[in-house]
Amino acid sequence: MNSLSNRRVLLGITGGIAAYKSAELTRLLVKAGAEVRVVMTHAATQFITALTLQALSGNRVHTELLDAEAEAGMGHIELARWPDLILIAPSSANFIAKLADGKADDILSTLVLATKAPIAIAPAMNQGMWANAATQQNLGILAARGMKIFGPASGEQACGDVGLGRMLEPSEIAALSADMFDAGLLAGLRIAITAGPTQETIDPVRYISNRSSGKMAYALAIEAAASGAQVTLISGPVALATPERVKRIDVVSAQQMLAASLDAAAQCDIFIGVAAVADYRPAQIETQKIKKGAATMTLELVKNPDIIATIAALEKRPFTVGFAAETIDIERHGADKLQRKRLDLLFANDANETLGSDNTSATALWPQGSLSLGPASKRRVAVQMLELLRQQYDLKNGQA
Ligand code: C5P
Repeated sequence: MNSLSNRRVLLGITGGIAAYKSAELTRLLVKAGAEVRVVMTHAATQFITALTLQALSGNRVHTELLDAEAEAGMGHIELARWPDLILIAPSSANFIAKLADGKADDILSTLVLATKAPIAIAPAMNQGMWANAATQQNLGILAARGMKIFGPASGEQACGDVGLGRMLEPSEIAALSADMFDAGLLAGLRIAITAGPTQETIDPVRYISNRSSGKMAYALAIEAAASGAQVTLISGPVALATPERVKRIDVVSAQQMLAASLDAAAQCDIFIGVAAVADYRPAQIETQKIKKGAATMTLELVKNPDIIATIAALEKRPFTVGFAAETIDIERHGADKLQRKRLDLLFANDANETLGSDNTSATALWPQGSLSLGPASKRRVAVQMLELLRQQYDLKNGQA
């Protein structure tokens, strides 16, 4: 499991020949699951192009402190708040001196001053410059401020000298960066979660829906992302903000939710069906508003697809987790659903207690056992659910 999964790394590149290795470093960080944003000093752009780093990181590269276009997207203060780690590789002797002085005369040094994120630097310079008392004194100042210093390595240098000052290899820098984080409970796992109600259109102004708020699913998405998972949230219409680090796909009807779920299921390790999917939809969607007339009217409904049962029946299926909100015989109905829908794990709860509330309790059911969780906030119960899920997932995959 990789502790860089879902972490935000701001990679600063300063001017030195080792900057060519920053391309490989970017690729390795992205491969390890990190989101990478690159910031380059002007000198760095003499050695490697912003375009290369943009292509490898998948994000716009920042080179200017005062850039109206960049500020309109992610401004420098926002950028300073964004990362979980600022990694400067290579870090030149000049840039180290600038950091020691606390200067803020370009975008990268400004970010270093403004951020609360941990900072690591990978120095790269000529052996004479490394050995110089000024550089060593500056490094002492940075270390005393809590910055991590990766390397440098000893060996042959681009200038022909031999000695200390070579930048560490990108693989070593990526590994040391990963060591700065705890591997989260769900690091490296890809999880899809369905959320909220669905709306089934009757006519241009009416629909059938239910009271699901989406709070349980969103709590799970927040906690799973914080534990290092890559989360896709397939959400029906809810009044909730998209959690950070979560990819949200908005859908309206059960049929749309099924299509998005099948796409996501092909690329995930775990599928969690929390959505209160409408069991039925109108057999026909009227193109014009239905006029009132007779004292009674009949609306013909047809059954919606069972999304989670469809996912669980796939030949190459993810670990499949369901929910059951019941009003009576909660555990019996839950156990029946676990078996009938061929789920790996199910959380049964009391619909009256949980619907729309910030708190909940649940009974976890799986083929060999059960456990009661809560009552507590949905965030707290979500953490308990994910811990159990991890345990059951590992057992099924022979890793426990
Ligand atoms: O059958 P019931 O709706 O009670 O089952 C609840 C579980 O099944 C939940 O996990 C829910 O997300 C899922 N479900 C579904 N598609 C449906 C109905 C329910 O995925 N059409």
